[in-house]
Amino acid sequence: SEFVGTFNTKPRRSMALAEQAKRVAAEFDFCDDAVGKAVKEFIREMDEGLEKEGTELSQIPTYVTAVPNGTEKGLYMAVDLGGTNFRVCSIQLHGNTTFSLTQSKVAIPHELMVAKTSKELFSFLAKQIEAFLKLHHEDHYVGTVKRRAGGDENQQEEIFNLGFTFSFPVHQIGINKGMLMRWTKGFDIDDAVGKDVCALLQQEIDELHLPVKVAALVNDTVGTLMARSYTSAGKTGTLLGAIFGTGTNGAYVEKLDKVSKLTKDKDAGEYDKSTGEMIVNTEWGSFDNSLRTLPNNPYDIELDKNSVNPGIQMFEKRVSGMFLGELLRLALLKLVKDPSVPLFTDENSASNDVHSTTQIHDSSPIWKQWGIDTSFLSVCAGDHSPGLRMLRQTLDRDYDISAVSAEDAEAVREIAAAIGRRAARLAAVAIAGIVINTGRLGKSSATATTAQKAGVEPQRGDVDTDQSDEIDIGVDGSLVEFYPKFEEYMREALRAVPEIGAEGERRVRIGIAKDGSGVGAALIALVAGRVESPQDA
Ligand code: GLC
Repeated sequence: SEFVGTFNTKPRRSMALAEQAKRVAAEFDFCDDAVGKAVKEFIREMDEGLEKEGTELSQIPTYVTAVPNGTEKGLYMAVDLGGTNFRVCSIQLHGNTTFSLTQSKVAIPHELMVAKTSKELFSFLAKQIEAFLKLHHEDHYVGTVKRRAGGDENQQEEIFNLGFTFSFPVHQIGINKGMLMRWTKGFDIDDAVGKDVCALLQQEIDELHLPVKVAALVNDTVGTLMARSYTSAGKTGTLLGAIFGTGTNGAYVEKLDKVSKLTKDKDAGEYDKSTGEMIVNTEWGSFDNSLRTLPNNPYDIELDKNSVNPGIQMFEKRVSGMFLGELLRLALLKLVKDPSVPLFTDENSASNDVHSTTQIHDSSPIWKQWGIDTSFLSVCAGDHSPGLRMLRQTLDRDYDISAVSAEDAEAVREIAAAIGRRAARLAAVAIAGIVINTGRLGKSSATATTAQKAGVEPQRGDVDTDQSDEIDIGVDGSLVEFYPKFEEYMREALRAVPEIGAEGERRVRIGIAKDGSGVGAALIALVAGRVESPQDA
């Protein structure tokens, strides 16, 4: 009524907005029961992927059959393509679980991610390798100029063995041979699909006459697993390497005889069978593409529809850094456009006496696809200042939304938290699936599984509580590194999986393998060199 005046509209608006925000946040719930169901589906898809091609989890055999133990030595080169940056590095492995690394990094120009021909991308990569050699390893570069001038063709310097971290799904048929299956994470270059990516890179390297041999093809998750094993040697064997960055994926140690599709692959190359194990790259970004168990709210649907690869990488689109900011943007737009209490239209006292109204400027990135960066979710989750000052400043500075009220900021924080929490709980699904299916929980966890199948609630005591029996996981990526509660939320969900429970969760050790893919690629190039040298000699 009129008498109430403007005084009371504020609390009324606040309450209505808070309710709206709660409603949108709740659309990102992923309850314990849903986690459990998804874990079962994950295990089913793991097994299916080990048996045949063309499944949702690709379960790619990597031809890496052993993990390092920390005594490996030598100088190797590695390049890494697969996120926002292209990295070139050289790695000196000291053989005592430590290493030194020299690296350079360039952002990949967007035009190259969607280039007409793969040559444009790969020749750019070779040029970066050349610049790196010139700068850091002149001794390896001396012959290049002469060879290029058509001079002494036999001018030889030492050849660098290079590990090529190429973080996309590749059908591998040897340690340095594999055909691109499909692009992910916004890359889209048609003519590369089906081609051997090692050959594409080697060709460009050879055109520049560089003394570099692409010795190993490595997914970043495999590199992370190798790096973690190298640096944590002597403790327990690492089970899993996982990336929660621009994309998400995991590679784990599997029993060779379970990788039954390898024997059916007529293109399959040689591999060492003596360890009885092989690292498998799950490509879990495509887990449950058919949405049997994944959550699918209006924002998920909208995001997928407008992506370059609708219907695929459905797990990744709910978990990884490339997408969480966009989910937040779509959810916020829903509130911005809400006719009853539109977000960011608040009357707001910016200082004691100046009243101003929140304004979303036309220039705000919030209006454009991919306009919100996932790092903003970390800002939201990390802001404990009174009135969410940091969050509001970021909205003003980076997103052209000025004079945001504390109430509106709170609504943003709540929705951002719900998206982050759901991502971490989904991440737990993948980890749980692998921990359970590899039998790492020990004998008594098998009892729990049987009990589960019989519909009996497993008893706490059923799970092996041997604390010394840690399950080691190496992780990397901006999300695990910078999102404040990622691991906490993930662990909360792990505990909720009946086969794991609190005891199982406590045995899971998670450690960051920072820049692990570079070191890991070097380690694989080393192993590849060992395998090859008898033939070379
Ligand atoms: C995408 C890629 C996968 C990679 C992951 C993390 O899911 O398909 O190969 O490991 O991103 O970078």
